Amino acid sequence: MNPLKLVKRWSWGSTKGPEEKEETFDPKVHLDYTPPSKKITLEDLLLKQSPTASPIAGTVPFPLLSSEGVRAYRRALFQKDVIDKCASSPFPGTLVLRDAVKQSKFINDFWTHPETMRIVSEAVDVPLEIVMPTEIGHTNIQVEGTTIPEMARNLKVEPSLEKVELSAEDRAYDPLKDASAIIPWHYDSYPYVCVMMLSETEGMIGGETYIKKGDGESQKVEGPQIGHAVMLQGGEVRHLAARAKGVKERISTITSYRSKVPNIYDSSYMTNVRPYADMNTMYPEWTNYRLRKLRDELTHYLDRTEKEQNFTQATEEVQDLINNQIEYLQRTSRQMVDPEYSQRLVKEYGKPAYYDAPRIWQTVRTLPSFEELAFSTDDERKWRPDSGYWMDLQKSMETIRRGKPLQSVLGTGVWDQTKRYYMGDELLRQGLNEVFLDWLGCTGLWEVYGKL
Ligand SMILES: [Fe+2]
Repeated sequence: MNPLKLVKRWSWGSTKGPEEKEETFDPKVHLDYTPPSKKITLEDLLLKQSPTASPIAGTVPFPLLSSEGVRAYRRALFQKDVIDKCASSPFPGTLVLRDAVKQSKFINDFWTHPETMRIVSEAVDVPLEIVMPTEIGHTNIQVEGTTIPEMARNLKVEPSLEKVELSAEDRAYDPLKDASAIIPWHYDSYPYVCVMMLSETEGMIGGETYIKKGDGESQKVEGPQIGHAVMLQGGEVRHLAARAKGVKERISTITSYRSKVPNIYDSSYMTNVRPYADMNTMYPEWTNYRLRKLRDELTHYLDRTEKEQNFTQATEEVQDLINNQIEYLQRTSRQMVDPEYSQRLVKEYGKPAYYDAPRIWQTVRTLPSFEELAFSTDDERKWRPDSGYWMDLQKSMETIRRGKPLQSVLGTGVWDQTKRYYMGDELLRQGLNEVFLDWLGCTGLWEVYGKL
């Protein structure tokens, strides 16, 4: 047989064209790192530092990927397998890629490489660990097109330089006044985040992050330009992402982290991700990470105390350890809301209501019928009388009665004892927004709210 023909047949038979084949990650080629020129501390922002957090709230953007790195990353991302298996489109013009590490060795190797891990850890002054594989490189893509294949066709390895004419309205856009900020004020579900830009940002307006300071003012952090990244302690600081305008394509990719230091409070929740993540992938990864952390902390404790002879001191410490781990395990379990139940509720009430639940609750609390409806639902256990959430409610009320702080999705704080604590407060404290909406529906308050 003519060998030339064989080669030809081979390349035809391959599922990947030469354009699509990804490169092997090489830090010497693909990284072009310069440490952030400025780190913003919690103190700078007049925010109190919780004993378990890093003093760093975030960094200004810093160079991370080289120009080759950006192209190699984009090539890896636009492979047929990645688009076919990882893409969803929450609304026209937007593509979300999740779990790309399962299809792309390049993306996995880039984020998990010791050099990359060192860079992100140094940026926030604590050793970091990736929360779980499913949270590596969550990618948001804004591009022209209405269907996934149409949008995918518009994605090229070479970053687009095309600009979009800005209207006067676009230019006047103020993310702090306009309700259409791409993501309104929120805390992230995970303690730390790295956001990296894979598109040209020249000519783009918006795209920056605002952090709420302790005095109520907002501090602006510029969005990263192409190949640059920015670190944020998003689980600890309230922030808002401004809409980006003026460019044809915008691709940003996000990886979430937690501290690697043992016995540090881990403020991870799955609240922000449950409505769109594949729970069959996420729950097993969540369980593994949570149980592994528990195991490591117990091992760490035993390694230390087995050498010590001072049992009195150990008794106090072991009580603290046990209490913390009970709460940790409880949170681990509660976050895994039954997938069918969760999806049904998100569908029934809608994703906007899910993400807006804390604000809806604030409004609902001012309604004239609020006290009566909420009180009778809780007092008579009209909603899911056999659920474990009632025990959680009792426990939190007891913590409040004793004037002790409550841990919550929105940070740790002491509850104002003059305000009654309802099941709605308890469910939102735990970041169980869909369950909260279910309870709200049962009280009748959702209906009253809808008529406003
Ligand atoms: Fe965020």
